[in-house]
Amino acid sequence: MKALIIANWKCNPTTQKEAKEIFDAVKKGARTVKDAEIVICPPFLYLPLLKGLTLGAQNIFWEDKGAFTGEISGVMLKDFKVEYVIIGHSERRKYFNETDQVINKKLKIAISANLKPIFCVGETLEEMQGEKKSEVLERQITEGLKNISRENVKNIIIAYEPVWAIGTGQNCSVDQTMSSILLIRKIIFKLYNRELADNIKIIYGGSVNSKNSGEYIKNAGVNGLLVGGASLNAEEFIKIVKSAG
Ligand code: PGA
Repeated sequence: MKALIIANWKCNPTTQKEAKEIFDAVKKGARTVKDAEIVICPPFLYLPLLKGLTLGAQNIFWEDKGAFTGEISGVMLKDFKVEYVIIGHSERRKYFNETDQVINKKLKIAISANLKPIFCVGETLEEMQGEKKSEVLERQITEGLKNISRENVKNIIIAYEPVWAIGTGQNCSVDQTMSSILLIRKIIFKLYNRELADNIKIIYGGSVNSKNSGEYIKNAGVNGLLVGGASLNAEEFIKIVKSAG
């Protein structure tokens, strides 16, 4: 299975010129990559400008169309040849009050639009310190996947992103990551079955850089990485992609 290396640009960069520059440099670097699948998730506005690599969106609305000022729907994304969509990122949970119920609606509409959801879960620092990690992951996954069939869950990628590791430079250790990945597989086993638990793609995100990326792929049992800050530097991002090979 090819490792899935996903760039989450978040609300960056601030001009189309810079967006094209980063993208073109990544595209150039990606020419020699065989063992990884690269997905770039830029802000919505840049999606139509970037061609030649697989694209993902950073958000989706839970209806296809209608009177919902400011929203972008899954059918619109699909029309722009977008293949993936990040759902439930901790920044959206925190700053935009996205609940497990909202995330569940977004996952369902993404599947119905034939997009591959990157479903983010993970505990905060307080939750980790309070030994609530298992409980939090179980709640986020159970509520997020509510009424989603076995057939449809297959297309979801789960991103384990401990909130305390995002943008902090404090990446989660390989051992801790591995135990969270196993925990997530156990939750999927309880909700669905053994086959799905074994085969669902689970990736890691949180302060990934070219120095720690290879370790996750080789020793933490992850199927890929979700890269924030480091994905805005094309050279660094390509190093991460290559370390996954
Ligand atoms: P980071 O972000 O790599 O900057 O920690 C990861 C993410 O939020 O997806």
